[in-house]
Amino acid sequence: MSSSNASSSSRGAILLVGGMGTRLQPLTLQTPKPMLPVAGVPFTEHQIIKAREAGIKEIVLATSFKAELFEPYFGDGERFGISIKYAVEKEPLGTGGAIANAAKSLTQAGPIAIFNGDVLSGHDLNAQFEFHEKNRAEVTLYLTKVADARAFGAVELTADFQVTAFNEKMENPPTNTINAGCYIFNREVINQIPTGQVVSVERETFPGLLKQGARVFGFVDSSYWLDIGTPAALLKASQDLLSGLAKSAATPSHSSDFLALPGAKIDATANVTGNSVIGADAIVGQGARITGCVVNDGAIIGPDAILSNTFVAAGFEVPGGVIAEGSYLGY
Ligand code: GDD
Ligand code: MG
Repeated sequence: MSSSNASSSSRGAILLVGGMGTRLQPLTLQTPKPMLPVAGVPFTEHQIIKAREAGIKEIVLATSFKAELFEPYFGDGERFGISIKYAVEKEPLGTGGAIANAAKSLTQAGPIAIFNGDVLSGHDLNAQFEFHEKNRAEVTLYLTKVADARAFGAVELTADFQVTAFNEKMENPPTNTINAGCYIFNREVINQIPTGQVVSVERETFPGLLKQGARVFGFVDSSYWLDIGTPAALLKASQDLLSGLAKSAATPSHSSDFLALPGAKIDATANVTGNSVIGADAIVGQGARITGCVVNDGAIIGPDAILSNTFVAAGFEVPGGVIAEGSYLGY
């Protein structure tokens, strides 16, 4: 057994999936953001499979908003080859409070990977673990570069990748290197986060650790990265997974132009393109033209409708001839 396999046997993970998904309304009125389908499966499934591929055996879902919708789908994780537990916050505890609360359910002793529940990334999580170990770090942040860092945590580094400052969402960020939303924490550091109260890992824990002189490192990576927190980004994630620009082993097999889930019926005269998803048992009527859309389970698209970059709610019936672009139908 190689040394990386030996250490991976004690790796656990926490997935932060308790946010309200406000920027995704109306899509998140009934469904929490991480359960929204992306390339045909709930977004969280892509992250769970990524964690499993990095040797993680146990993952705790830190839930709050619409917490009850996760367990019926993911269960104990057996179907996904990983042990899944749930830590429910009655009132949201913030990202730091959620981590402290969820860590109580983890039995694995090794370093813990923590994922924002809305990030699609191509970074090599195993390499991030190895970087963490090599640096004898207490915390390692996955970082990426973006054109405009204002909506993110801007992170300053030394030449040898030690983090010197963490600036959450500021008007004039000092750098374009941002927190990409996947951390590795040693257990001892998590134990320092106060429990039972609201704590922001970005605004309190990281600045506090830096003040104490803790060994916080940045793992800078330039592979695919996307926060799916807006409708345009959610569509892009789905399209990129189907086109192959983004990769996930959880994406169901599909044709080169679109994904049709089991039971979908597409009329022979309809035209579906642009990495669209046609949900289970959905029907696309004759002459309809669908490009770059997410048509959810059981929806019916009437004849000659022309839809592009549009979400259609599960079970909704789009009348024939409707033309829509960048819309939400049935939410
Ligand atoms: N359990 C739980 N409880 N989860 C929470 C809570 C909470 O109180 N608050 C937020 N979350 C989860 C969200 O569901 C999401 O998956 C993740 O924490 C991050 O919250 P967002 O609301 O999506 O934050 P953001 O996108 O504005 O900023 C964060 O992500 C950026 C990268 O996408 C920050 O971590 C930034 O520093 C970072 O750059
Ligand atoms: Mg986000």
